[in-house]
Amino acid sequence: MNLPPYSSFPNIVGNTISLRQITPSDIKDIIEISYYDAVQATTVDQASEMQAKINNDYSDGNSIHWGIAENITNKIVGTCGYYRGLDIGAGELGCVLLPKYRGQGFMSLAMSLAIEFGINQIGLTRIWAETSQDNENAIKLLERLNFIKIADLADNYIEYELKQNL
Ligand SMILES: CC(C)(COP(=O)(O)OP(=O)(O)OC[C@H]1O[C@@H](n2cnc3c(N)ncnc32)[C@H](O)[C@@H]1OP(=O)(O)O)[C@@H](O)C(=O)NCCC(=O)NCCS
Repeated sequence: MNLPPYSSFPNIVGNTISLRQITPSDIKDIIEISYYDAVQATTVDQASEMQAKINNDYSDGNSIHWGIAENITNKIVGTCGYYRGLDIGAGELGCVLLPKYRGQGFMSLAMSLAIEFGINQIGLTRIWAETSQDNENAIKLLERLNFIKIADLADNYIEYELKQNL
């Protein structure tokens, strides 16, 4: 296992998008997709405070939160990352796109990069995600990425796990 934090933030360059660290100048663009403890930010200040907590979680080795940047513009289109379980080799993936960037394939590319990093760099033996049963876009995304449903959870939630020989 190779847990965060690393000597430098694990930026990952893909063909059309990259996973990179979120900088203070990005915050104004990502307020509506800034969450911490299931609370959504509504102001730049709140989103900045949340980003500071997210940075602490990375420094403590509990999570990796990437900004997904379109390579041509370097603009953040969404975020994804591992938010729980790294210490036991089981990363919970989460993700969100800004509404105007949905339906264009950005998240499938981003999650593929995050999965590859999770398996080959962190050394995860299980990758999983939770979503609500009515979140059709998340379910389609997870199934496209080779996740299978493994459990019904409380409050209409379902658990998906990446199917492969890890
Ligand atoms: C879940 C979420 C990230 C999915 O976003 P998405 O845009 O549907 O997923 P992708 O970026 O992979 O795009 C795939 C869609 O783009 C379409 N698409 C268009 N151009 C494409 C291209 N060049 N390449 C690939 N797909 C393309 C695909 O057909 C697919 O649409 P479909 O599902 O109707 O078939 C998004 O709905 C979201 O942010 N939701 C709120 C947060 C959330 O629910 N997170 C999930 C937690 S598990």
